[in-house]
Amino acid sequence: MTEHSIEQPVEVRGSGGADNGVNPSESLLKVRNLRTSFFTEDGIVNAVDNVSFDVRAGEALALVGESGCGKSVTASSIMRLVAPPGRITGGEIRFKGRNLADLSEREMRKVRGDDIAMVFQEPMTSLNPVFKIGAQLAEAIRIHRDVSKKEARRMAGEMLELVSIPDPIKRLDDYPHQLSGGMRQRVMIAMALSCEPDLLIADEPTTALDVTIQAQIMELLAHLQKKLGLAVLLITHDLGIVAEFCERVLVMYTGRIVEEAPVRELFANPGHPYTRGLLESLPSLTASAAGVARLPTIKGMVPSLLSLPDGCKFNPRCPDVMDICLGNEPALMAISQGHAARCYLHGDQADMERIAAERRLPAAVDQGRGQESRASKGVLSPGGVQPVPEGRGL
Ligand SMILES: Nc1ncnc2c1ncn2[C@@H]1O[C@H](COP(=O)(O)OP(=O)(O)OP(=O)(O)O)[C@@H](O)[C@H]1O
Ligand code: SF4
Ligand SMILES: [Mg+2]
Repeated sequence: MTEHSIEQPVEVRGSGGADNGVNPSESLLKVRNLRTSFFTEDGIVNAVDNVSFDVRAGEALALVGESGCGKSVTASSIMRLVAPPGRITGGEIRFKGRNLADLSEREMRKVRGDDIAMVFQEPMTSLNPVFKIGAQLAEAIRIHRDVSKKEARRMAGEMLELVSIPDPIKRLDDYPHQLSGGMRQRVMIAMALSCEPDLLIADEPTTALDVTIQAQIMELLAHLQKKLGLAVLLITHDLGIVAEFCERVLVMYTGRIVEEAPVRELFANPGHPYTRGLLESLPSLTASAAGVARLPTIKGMVPSLLSLPDGCKFNPRCPDVMDICLGNEPALMAISQGHAARCYLHGDQADMERIAAERRLPAAVDQGRGQESRASKGVLSPGGVQPVPEGRGL
């Protein structure tokens, strides 16, 4: 266990889901060893690399990490919306037992909306500017439900009411440009929820909005999550939002999950130096009271996915780097119940599963990453904390 801990500037909501009626054993979505690759002119980019996690029924799970670490590609992989030159190149996405990776496009269209819905950062990209809000909502409802136009319009009004849009019936006849950014995002949430999905993926749902409206939209999402028993996978840069809204967190770096923990545990006792860096760059009340002008930031840049370092992918930026970190990539190591980090500070196990998988990959993939095979280096000694097997969750 690391001795590092940080001040906790914000009130943390999560306690591992025990207080919100979530059954921890019930996994709605099981992502196992997911790999999504982009076949670019410069080489193969594994934007999501051997990623495994569960989303439990009714929980709010956060996916955090710096720009470019693979959060949105993870979301679009779950929705099977990765566009060329990208495609899913490995793993499973099991939703209520079915592997979404095996479904036909027609079957997948039914899953989108009926089972899993998504809200994006910029609602204008998803709303059609030439159709009224009511018509767009009613059409979304009729795609998934066998109801008359009149009934769909009535349901559309109900949905606007659910997302607390004032004068909902009147608003049905508005065009998207007649609504503010916050109201448009409410409409998108209404549209996403209109077919009663079990899982909502929200990719930076408030980033385009001003701070007051951000808070209102997050409150709305939290309210709907509880009221509808919805599972939410929230993608965000904002750890303040994570603390208030989520029960568990996944931290991503260079396409990998590097830490997984209940929110409270992550804030009190971050296990990965990268997570620590993210938390240390959060504004703290004590820091501003003490007149600290600049927040610490993580040194260095996120490396290109085409030329990742050997060993731990965070080693060029890590304040705790050791010799072992330059050899084989660490496995995800258990720290405590539900808490694991991909870091040698918690044991000395290499990620043999990943190394074996990389041996099986075509040569072009290794070339694309600018890496030699790491399997032969043998830096590790046996023993230490057992790694959490990838593909089984926590
Ligand atoms: N169309 C594409 N072509 C090639 N590479 C891509 C493409 N889309 C994404 N990638 C690669 O996937 C990586 C992850 O992208 P992703 O959009 O998932 O990042 P993110 O974590 O959502 O970042 P942000 O916080 O900025 O939204 C990128 O760094 C890039 O290398
Ligand atoms: S494995 Fe080593 S380099 Fe990587 S985060 Fe841990 S201490 Fe730092
Ligand atoms: Mg993104």
